[in-house]
Amino acid sequence: MALWGGRFKQAASAQFQAFNDSLPVDYRLAEQDIIGSVAWSKGLLKVGVLSVEEQQRLESALQELLAEVRDNPQQVADGGEEDIHSYVESKLIDKLGDLGKKLHTGRSRNDQVATDLKLWCKDKGGELLLSLVNFQQALMDLARRESDTVLPGYTHLQRAQPVTFGHWCLAYVEMFNRDIGRLNDALYRADTCPLGSGALAGTAYPIDRDMLAEELGFRRPTMNSLDAVSDRDHVLELLSAASISMMHISRLAEDLIFYNSGEAGFIELSDDVTSGSSLMPQKKNPDALELMRGKAGRVYGAMSAMMMTMKALPLAYNKDMQEDKEGLFDALDTWQQCLEIGVLVADGLSVNSGRTLAAAQQGYANATELADYLVSKDVPFREAHHIVGQVVLDAIEQEKPLEDFSLSQLQAYSDKIGDDVYKHLSIESCLDKREALGGTSKAQVERTMLSLESEQQHS
Ligand code: ARG
Repeated sequence: MALWGGRFKQAASAQFQAFNDSLPVDYRLAEQDIIGSVAWSKGLLKVGVLSVEEQQRLESALQELLAEVRDNPQQVADGGEEDIHSYVESKLIDKLGDLGKKLHTGRSRNDQVATDLKLWCKDKGGELLLSLVNFQQALMDLARRESDTVLPGYTHLQRAQPVTFGHWCLAYVEMFNRDIGRLNDALYRADTCPLGSGALAGTAYPIDRDMLAEELGFRRPTMNSLDAVSDRDHVLELLSAASISMMHISRLAEDLIFYNSGEAGFIELSDDVTSGSSLMPQKKNPDALELMRGKAGRVYGAMSAMMMTMKALPLAYNKDMQEDKEGLFDALDTWQQCLEIGVLVADGLSVNSGRTLAAAQQGYANATELADYLVSKDVPFREAHHIVGQVVLDAIEQEKPLEDFSLSQLQAYSDKIGDDVYKHLSIESCLDKREALGGTSKAQVERTMLSLESEQQHS
């Protein structure tokens, strides 16, 4: 039954009801709504609206309901009420009769929904932090397994300089570190309690809002009732953190899809994250990665939808805001799912180090080394760059790597070249020379890994 029938002469049309009802979406706030209601009953007790006995009966009925909704969330979704707040109130009235009707004193669904959703964001945010850390852990394990594996590094999708597979993994660990920071920042700002802001103008009862905030585990209460009921920044910030992280996930997926291609053949994905073709028996498709890449689009969609919904809304609450949950729930579920599937992908991935090494050796990834070698022999870098460009041009024509040129052939380009040049052209030397902070040398990658590991242990 609707909570607000008194003022109406006619019932709502079934069509409008179906359009207006949010229970099929916001049933996911059932636990938060009940926990918020318990806190509210304590607030009402303190101002004398409820007696001790009444508050206790309300609280135990709410606890009973909490167990029921945890047991069967689908039953809540199918509950036929307008929204989760109506559902909880009507179940309470079923259990307690008139006493159940007292709970809504001084409260509005506007401060209620704002509180419920923030509580939900905090819970889900905690889960997401864990999923991010788990994915980082899987990437760090992979980095350890492949710390010595040479991989061609690319710019413009052209082989540029060699790196290691471990170094590649740690690049993504860094990105997810920033995502964790962004999520924590968003959760910090979301951590203020709107309960007690009423419909828009505050509550007419002298409610202890500090007590409510503390009771519900918020950092502090919100400070302005108009803002409190109409602020959805936390939704936007979480969608934004999700979108940026999904961008990282999609880039990781894209790199791996390319590494997995027949043309590159750098990695093999485990059977449990790939699928076959109904027509072509030889196919093993990287579906998990393609979905990780593709689902970024729907998360961005949720973010832009919410931006547009909020744009130019007048203060304070407007029903438009009910649109916040569907996109947010879907986007955060999607993000979490991709992070979890990412762990499966990373755990089952094997690298064909012969192929990655061969690819790094082709493509003149050591051309910069030859230029640096000439610089060490007092050739100005710009000139060295030009000389090596000529060597590479001839090498391409002759279809051979730089190190296959004989000493006298190399000396034809510059008489500064001596027979010590060959050790500078090896891949190992390319990698190990990059010893400055953040570079590809084995020692440096090891250092980064250790510092990431100790960061994780402290977080
Ligand atoms: N279902 C609503 C929402 O999600 C709850 C708030 C309703 N408030 C109102 N005044 N109709 O936004």
